[in-house]
Amino acid sequence: MPLVSMRQVLDEAAKGGYGVGAFNVNNMEQIQSIMEAARETKSPVIIQASRGARAYSQDRFLYHLMVAATEVYPEIPTVLHLDHGNSPETCQSAIDMGFTSVMMDGSLMPDGKTPSSFEYNVEATRKVVEAAHAKGVTVEGEIGCLGGIEDGHGAGLDGLSHLTDPGQAVEFVKATGLDALAIAIGTSHGAYKFSSKPTGETLKMARLIEIHKRLPGVHLVMHGSSSVPKDLQDIINQYGGKLKPTWGVPVEEIQLGIKNGVRKINVDTDNRLAITGAIRKVFVEKPEEFDPRSYMKPAREAMKKVVALRMTQFGQAGHANDYKPLSLETMASRYAAQPVAV
Ligand code: G3H
Ligand code: 13P
Ligand code: ZN
Repeated sequence: MPLVSMRQVLDEAAKGGYGVGAFNVNNMEQIQSIMEAARETKSPVIIQASRGARAYSQDRFLYHLMVAATEVYPEIPTVLHLDHGNSPETCQSAIDMGFTSVMMDGSLMPDGKTPSSFEYNVEATRKVVEAAHAKGVTVEGEIGCLGGIEDGHGAGLDGLSHLTDPGQAVEFVKATGLDALAIAIGTSHGAYKFSSKPTGETLKMARLIEIHKRLPGVHLVMHGSSSVPKDLQDIINQYGGKLKPTWGVPVEEIQLGIKNGVRKINVDTDNRLAITGAIRKVFVEKPEEFDPRSYMKPAREAMKKVVALRMTQFGQAGHANDYKPLSLETMASRYAAQPVAV
């Protein structure tokens, strides 16, 4: 089956009351890890590529690897999503290449660092919605800013100073007509999210619940949702790594989010940790090895395990065959029948 619309995958998740992990990729092995995990758990899949991933893989390589994924795993509904598009032009280039979903992250200016105005965000996102929906492509927008800066998608904030304002979220959805809304509730990208074990108060779940109450029909997105498991940190440090003590987002908090409208959960860091730990282990235990397959295979397996676990925890497992994917043309006619409200 061809790559599918993220809107359809999220609509189905809302019907079934589950969440769908969106996993970042840069190369073939990461794509294979996710697809294997999806086959094992019978899950629909969202694979996402950042601007950095597109540059690293030279874009067309990544796209054709994704086409290969749909050929090798035809039973899995698979979405290709642009993560943190920084401008309408970046989103357009992804649409032109064949991405079935794009994120216009207008919460920041195109430099990916400076918080933007509400007006700029509305204008940029709305522009992308018009172009994307005409092709049946899904749009994710963001209101409020995440913390962290280590990956270039953050303003270097603490994660709490630019939380999403529920009233503004309602206005933003109305003015843009987007399909999915990323919100900031104290989350941040990368491995160093919290310097002590999070309590039930660390993430602003009450705010998420309030946003969901005001926008019950909107698919919410949680970025920065890696759990940064201690066992994966320990493997890295046991084999010569130097990670400082750190805590991520507890899976139970994500599950509470899923009960309250969260349909897309972004995870990258946990997979990076799993891959790096597996490679370090081989380097230390078998220093005589130099065939890249000797460490890439265990790395691929380690990432697959993390992804399969998250697919089960988020509830998407078992749902790969619930529905027949719609073509992007069908999605485009649906959007055309319901033009964006002004
Ligand atoms: O949100 C960020 C993702 O973890 C991708 O990070 O820009 O380093 O590829 P990246
Ligand atoms: P993590 O760094 O928590 O994995 O978040 C990834 C993300 O939000 C990608 O957009
Ligand atoms: Zn993100």
